[in-house]
Amino acid sequence: MALLDGWTLAKEREVALSQEVARLGVTPILVVILVGENPASQLYVQMKAKACMRVGIDCQVQSLKSELSQQALLEILHNLNNDPRVHGILVQLPLPKHLDTREILEAIAPCKDVDGFHPLNVGRVYSNSLLKGFLPATAMGVMELLEHYDIPIKGQDVVIVGASNIIGKPLASLMLNAGASVSICHILTKDLSMYTQRADIICVGVGKPRLIRSEMVKEGAVIVDIGINKEGDRVVGDADFEALKDKVSYITPVPKGVGPMTISALLENTLLAAKTSLESSC
Ligand code: GUN
Repeated sequence: MALLDGWTLAKEREVALSQEVARLGVTPILVVILVGENPASQLYVQMKAKACMRVGIDCQVQSLKSELSQQALLEILHNLNNDPRVHGILVQLPLPKHLDTREILEAIAPCKDVDGFHPLNVGRVYSNSLLKGFLPATAMGVMELLEHYDIPIKGQDVVIVGASNIIGKPLASLMLNAGASVSICHILTKDLSMYTQRADIICVGVGKPRLIRSEMVKEGAVIVDIGINKEGDRVVGDADFEALKDKVSYITPVPKGVGPMTISALLENTLLAAKTSLESSC
């Protein structure tokens, strides 16, 4: 078994990114909106902000009260959309229940939507028209990791466990675009093993520790673990790493696998937003 070492690759990407940022001539500005006090979201935002700082991106976090109204958030987004100094806008999810996530994501200007969650950018991924627009960071990070390790995708059987808008659906589109035969499994899937046992590549991100066990996987498969779960003071993924490590050809560790690649992809998207803004108006 070999590790898909996202941490080291992300560090290498950061060196290249900071050089590109320095050459750009303007400081890219990313505004991150955090509504409420979800501890996991606070941690993710902090990690994103620190990564931005390491490469020279100015990350401005707006921490807003959880009682914020839909109208007030829409107004904030409207102002950011119209502020030429701001290159990228990210609204950390999940939002508090009283807010309409769909409407909020649709209110972000597509040219500043570095998360790639606006329907226009979603559609660009779906229809493989990626000359413009942004890929969602996790899916982009997974594809970059597999590409770096020369793992073939064309013609491979890929199973994605988890059908979320943030991870599973965009990742399925990218895999399909790359020539894989893709199955998307989710909470209602009757027999998950039936899919995973014949898969060349399994990507899992549903938040269930040890969901993917050794007997569910064929010899030599590739495991991409997107899960992040806290067990006591340990962070574990959705795959049973210890049981799988001697059976598979490649596996991502958790932590230090997909997570750092997700952040690196966000930095790339923010740089792209800043570059694009120099060439055309938003
Ligand atoms: N919450 C969990 N993952 C993400 C992500 O990639 N972007 C945003 N905005 N929120 C998230």
